[in-house]
This record gives sequence, C-alpha cells and structure tokens, in this order.
Amino acid sequence: MRSQDIPGDLSEILFTEAQIKARVQEMAAEIDRDYAGKEPLLVGVLNGAVMVMADLYRALTIHAQMDWMAVSSYGSGTQSSGVVRILKDLTQDVVGRDVLVVEDIVDTGLTLTYLLENLASRGPKSLKLAAMFRKPEANKVHIDMAYVGFDIPNKFVVGYGLDYDGRYRNLVDVGILDPKVYS
Ligand code: IMP
Repeated sequence: MRSQDIPGDLSEILFTEAQIKARVQEMAAEIDRDYAGKEPLLVGVLNGAVMVMADLYRALTIHAQMDWMAVSSYGSGTQSSGVVRILKDLTQDVVGRDVLVVEDIVDTGLTLTYLLENLASRGPKSLKLAAMFRKPEANKVHIDMAYVGFDIPNKFVVGYGLDYDGRYRNLVDVGILDPKVYS
C-alpha cells in the first residue's frame, strides 16, 4: 500500500519508501561493523518490527539469527497503556548470545524498558537495541539506543509496520495519521 492509496488519511508524509530503505542500509552497515566476527541474535518485537526486521536482517552481510517476541502494547488506542505482558516468548536461549533487539518505534519506552530488563536477566553476552523510529519522549527514559533510524515528532505515525487499530502496517511510506481518522 502507498500513500496515494489512502487519500486524506495522512496529514503528512514523513519518509518515503526510498528514504527508509536507504537508512536501513546505513544501519545495517553499522551493525555489520560493530558485530564483525560475531553472530548476533536479532530479537524482533511483533508485530510492528516485522518490516524493519525483514529489511535490516537481509541487509546484513554478517551471519545473524532471528527470533521473535510479542508483548502487549497500545491495543486499539493511540496512547501507551504502560501494561506490558509477554504474549509470545523467544524460542531460543539467549545465554551467552549477542542480542540485538529490533523495534519499530520507541515512544515512552515503557514497553522496551520492561523487555530489556527481562532479556538482561536471562544472561546474554551483550544486549543492544535498534529502533527504526524514536519519538522525543524516548529521551526521558534511560534506554541506550545503539541504532536509531529516524527521530520523529511526537505525533501518531503509521506505515512500515506501524499500525492504527491493525491498519496501515503495509503502507510502504511512513506518515502522520490525520487525527480525523481516529477522532
Ligand atoms: P512505548 O512503550 O510508548 O515506547 O510504545 C511502544 C509501542 O507502541 C511501539 O512498539 C508501537 O507498537 C506503539 N507505538 C508507539 N508510537 C506509535 C505510533 O506513533 N504509531 C503506531 N504505533 C506506535
């Protein structure tokens, strides 16, 4: 789906498919460099990270593995609830592994703070975070974001895995959802 397929739904296009693709390549190059000689385990957070994981993972030139977790987040609203539950856990053991969590977006960081603490307690060799988008609120919590795609305004955005009520994940661009869609 492209932005022209949903006329009026976006108040602004923030990043085009080409811009996102280019940035993912840059992030992958950094990860290649930092993990040279290692074989990291990329941990994606369902469902939002599906797109960034698929692109980032394929852009790597080093060996890496992939696993997934699902946690509860926004539900159908546009505000973080602060309630985090593990709905699906990893299938692999992370003890002694170089774990790189791959996230779509960090907003309040509530979800990630919980997730990172939980993963840290399992004894990985290293634990880092890659997120495609970061909102200003994310700077208030102490999360070390090793790889960030883009800093974005404090608006509700959709596309490239980010949804509103299950929709727009398949939008190839990323844009600000017009408030009329959810008001
Ligand atoms: P946080 O706990 O506030 O950092 O929120 C994390 C999760 O909320 C993300 O993984 C997304 O699933 C969702 N989220 C946060 N901001 C947005 C947004 O602007 N659009 C769509 N989903 C969002």
